[in-house]
Amino acid sequence: MKRIAIFASGSGSNAENIINYFQDNKKAEVVLVLSNNPKAQVLDRATRLGVPNMGFNKQQLNDSKWAVENLKTLDLIVLAGFLWKFPDHLLKVFPNKVINIHPALLPKYGGKGMYGMHVHSAVVENKEEESGITIHYVNEHYDEGAIIFQAKCKVNTTDTPSDVAAKIHDLEMKHFPEVIQQTLSEDG
Ligand code: GAR
Repeated sequence: MKRIAIFASGSGSNAENIINYFQDNKKAEVVLVLSNNPKAQVLDRATRLGVPNMGFNKQQLNDSKWAVENLKTLDLIVLAGFLWKFPDHLLKVFPNKVINIHPALLPKYGGKGMYGMHVHSAVVENKEEESGITIHYVNEHYDEGAIIFQAKCKVNTTDTPSDVAAKIHDLEMKHFPEVIQQTLSEDG
């Protein structure tokens, strides 16, 4: 059984969708949900779904002892709305085992500060005709690791940032769990 951990900072709709997808799966399961915000809704969702979960602070995340104790034996770390930079020391422990979802078509609209509605507002402001999601490996730079998967949606001239957010949400719900499964099976 492959072991997945999810890092998230806020609501956790992706985390919930991923947990549900792998609930009756024979090859992989979500074993842990972690958040930098101990009050984040994602932790309540994990509790409700029976998945072990915990909050952590910056000091813990940067402490390699804490990380080894809590993250050992994982096959994949999934960042699903995780807003802190994932630390370099952990990337060394999990080479090519950390993936992230970004709510735009990278390399456009990526980088520090580009998250959630900030991304969708920028897309609308720039009158883009399309947006989408990018699932990519995490490296030491924000939103720059190798791209695994992208899916697109149309942006109409009348769309508000909330309209774009809803389209992106649909794409995330549809594709993210499948791409995780595919990434795990390619891993051997
Ligand atoms: C998702 O749309 C995800 O793509 C985005 O945050 C949202 C989290 O929603 N991530 C980023 O913007 C990272 N730069 P959720 O908490 O409901 O899953």
